[in-house]
Amino acid sequence: MTEISSETRFLHATEMGLGAWQWGDRVVWQYGHGYSAEEVRQAFQASVAEGVRFVDTAEVYGNGRSERLLGQFVKETDQPVLVATKFFPLPWRFGKGAFVRALKASLARLNMESIDLYQIHWPSPLISMDTMMEGLAECIKNGLTRTVGVSNFGPSRMVAAYSTLARHDVPLASNQVHYSLLNRAVEKDGTLARCNELGIRLIAYSPLEKGLLTGKYSVDSPPPGSRGRMFPNLLPRLGPLLKLMTEIGQDHGGKSNSQVALNWTICKGALPIPGAKNAAQALENAGGLGWRLTDEEMARLDEASDAVVKS
Ligand SMILES: NC(=O)c1ccc[n+]([C@@H]2O[C@H](COP(=O)([O-])OP(=O)(O)OC[C@H]3O[C@@H](n4cnc5c(N)ncnc54)[C@H](OP(=O)(O)O)[C@@H]3O)[C@@H](O)[C@H]2O)c1
Repeated sequence: MTEISSETRFLHATEMGLGAWQWGDRVVWQYGHGYSAEEVRQAFQASVAEGVRFVDTAEVYGNGRSERLLGQFVKETDQPVLVATKFFPLPWRFGKGAFVRALKASLARLNMESIDLYQIHWPSPLISMDTMMEGLAECIKNGLTRTVGVSNFGPSRMVAAYSTLARHDVPLASNQVHYSLLNRAVEKDGTLARCNELGIRLIAYSPLEKGLLTGKYSVDSPPPGSRGRMFPNLLPRLGPLLKLMTEIGQDHGGKSNSQVALNWTICKGALPIPGAKNAAQALENAGGLGWRLTDEEMARLDEASDAVVKS
């Protein structure tokens, strides 16, 4: 494995984060129905109190509302909080200057001088790898972010990003990708292995599979809104995996399914960033930290997850 660079070491020392897509989003998460700014403030405060001090947002979450809320919450706490946001490659954004301009706009919403991690949200066929990586390197050179990363990059694109950034003497800090007990593509396509080899932190998004792994949804009680239509194949097959997660959680003093799902991603070597709409969810998720599933339990969970995804 490549030695982890000193600039990105803080990410490897971070075991769990908090996702902030829910904060202001009405398309998938129905912000304003059942939860609002006060509930997400409490989710932030509960996470920070439990030692979760890394928050992931993006300029597109709630059209900037997520960044604004996070900026307010960070100002209200006396604890240090690590902040990550993302650049969205909109079709009219071309040259490397677009990255510095977009990050400055994010910083204005966050009401901050700089952040800890700036990520490219999705790869784009319209912007070359050289331009993307030059744009990210410029953000570091301008003192706007401590480190840079990518998101939704497959293994070959990620390695190309790593090598291109290296020409600017900048380490690729992270790749944020979908990873949960119900989506293990990154294990199978080599992304996780390449991350480990190159010292890139794999940040696991949707680690609770948008709520499915908590055990509260079923065919008879699907998730609300657009999420209700996202899992036609998974919902009917979840039963045996959820049952095993509950059994294993009980052997660890009553850990919930959410806590087992999050601990599983940590044991795989990833940094999960579960989204939370309120303090109760944030508190429960923080309980995914501070203990370890055994190798034998991991093997049983892998087998049960394979059975759901392959059946
Ligand atoms: N880079 C990307 O392209 C990308 C894509 C997706 C997400 N992300 C990031 O990853 C973060 C997490 O992913 P995600 O938000 O898609 O999904 P997730 O973390 O798998 O699920 C979050 C949802 O599950 C439910 N939940 C969370 N904790 C719970 C608990 N303890 N008990 C019961 N229900 C609970 C809540 O929704 P309900 O209460 O409504 O069920 C919550 O909104 C996002 O916030 C975002 O920062 C990035």
